[in-house]
Amino acid sequence: MRFPQNESTDHEILQQLEALRQGDADWRSGKTWSLVYPTGDQHPDFVRQAHSLFFTENALNPMAFKSLKRMEHEVVRMCADLFNADRQVVGTLTSGGTESLLLAVKTYRDIWRLRHPRRLGKPQILLPESAHIAFHKAAEYFDCQLRFIPLDASMRARPDELRKMLGPRAMMVVASAPNYPFGTLDPVDDMARLAHQAGVPLHVDACLGGFLLPFLEGIGQELPRFDFRVPGVASLSADLHKYAYAAKGASVLLYRGMDLLRHQFFAYADWPGGMFISPALLGTRPGGAIAAAWASLNRLGRQGLERYARQIHDASQRLKEGIRQIPELELLGDPPASVLAYRSRLPGLSIYAVADRLQAKGWHIDRQQRPESLHAMVSPHHGPIVDEFLRDLREAVAQVKARPGAGHKGQAALYGMMAQIPLRGMVRQELLKTLEALYGPEGRIPDLANQPPDWKTRAAARFLRLREKLALLRPKP
Ligand SMILES: Cc1ncc(COP(=O)(O)O)c(C=O)c1O
Repeated sequence: MRFPQNESTDHEILQQLEALRQGDADWRSGKTWSLVYPTGDQHPDFVRQAHSLFFTENALNPMAFKSLKRMEHEVVRMCADLFNADRQVVGTLTSGGTESLLLAVKTYRDIWRLRHPRRLGKPQILLPESAHIAFHKAAEYFDCQLRFIPLDASMRARPDELRKMLGPRAMMVVASAPNYPFGTLDPVDDMARLAHQAGVPLHVDACLGGFLLPFLEGIGQELPRFDFRVPGVASLSADLHKYAYAAKGASVLLYRGMDLLRHQFFAYADWPGGMFISPALLGTRPGGAIAAAWASLNRLGRQGLERYARQIHDASQRLKEGIRQIPELELLGDPPASVLAYRSRLPGLSIYAVADRLQAKGWHIDRQQRPESLHAMVSPHHGPIVDEFLRDLREAVAQVKARPGAGHKGQAALYGMMAQIPLRGMVRQELLKTLEALYGPEGRIPDLANQPPDWKTRAAARFLRLREKLALLRPKP
């Protein structure tokens, strides 16, 4: 592949783009249960217009594009109002959930360091086992230690366990509203009280639910409090590019006061390029994402977001009810909102084999481990296809049940083995090799649907060899 020599026509390039997207996950049909948040109506067209109006502008310098600074400020204030904050609450926009969580970790790490000038070791993030993976990334980037709060049977963090963990190295506590793997809400009230008593800030990761839960409350669903109404909540993140239906690249991160947000900021006075200030992680901050977020909130308002919340609620209830009626399956916990996970109740029935069957019918299915389960995240456009999905799910379960060996074939076998390999460091090495393949000179994209990616086969082979060696070492009876 060489750098293009000549100019091309718009038409040629646009045609190529259309051709490139043919193999992508088919979200328009509703057969995709993650990654995108389609509304099924004209709203995205409007957001696209707003985005392209500010396509070129850059919020790197807030003095240059005052419009963007103003929009950022207004989005922050609107969100502070939505999350029942007082006037002292401040915040910034970021490029997404991961950036919001990375920044919250950086902020609390720096505060902890100031409070503990004689370091006692790495500061600790106390987080539920179900908290988002971005905290793992943050711990690696910012040199913190993760300590996991076990979950109860309903897949919610256990406050009694948190109480035991709140020592001098605890720099922050995390609660999710809801978490990604199971869609369940941690007991924010109890966790925040404990954290507050111990003088440790609590961050609510409402990246997923921030723009859904308040509107479910608005349509009469009773939910536990998760926002600034809870006294010990120090900060909260909520993604505009999820259930606020903005363009990708927008999340809001709010802190209870400037005494916290101050530690997120970066300023440098001696750079040859000039004096520099930066409120968040990125340098160039795309104007389009900020304008689209501002436009989406203003266009929809509480009324529009409640309408979508009702659609999501109805589709989720039907989906959950349908899954409950399949005797071979069960939901994990009792997810109140739009995200759910389900697994097999029969030891011999591989849920990954069910996923294989569903995939063969054109559904894009996310597989989870610990416990082995399948995942779904409902968007407003899912309403019309819930029945079709449930029919296919029932059929898939029946087919797998009829062929007990199905779990030992295809992707199911590999996923099953990879989830159970006890040597997680080895699996991690293989995952890193996948990244090297994806980003190596050939940019190889594994075709997950038709052939297992090499790392899984390699790791599985290594695992089997290792198991054989261990078996040889075992004393003979
Ligand atoms: C609970 C939760 N937090 C954080 C994130 C990270 O968001 P992003 O993918 O925008 O970085 C996600 C993404 O799904 C999430 O579900």
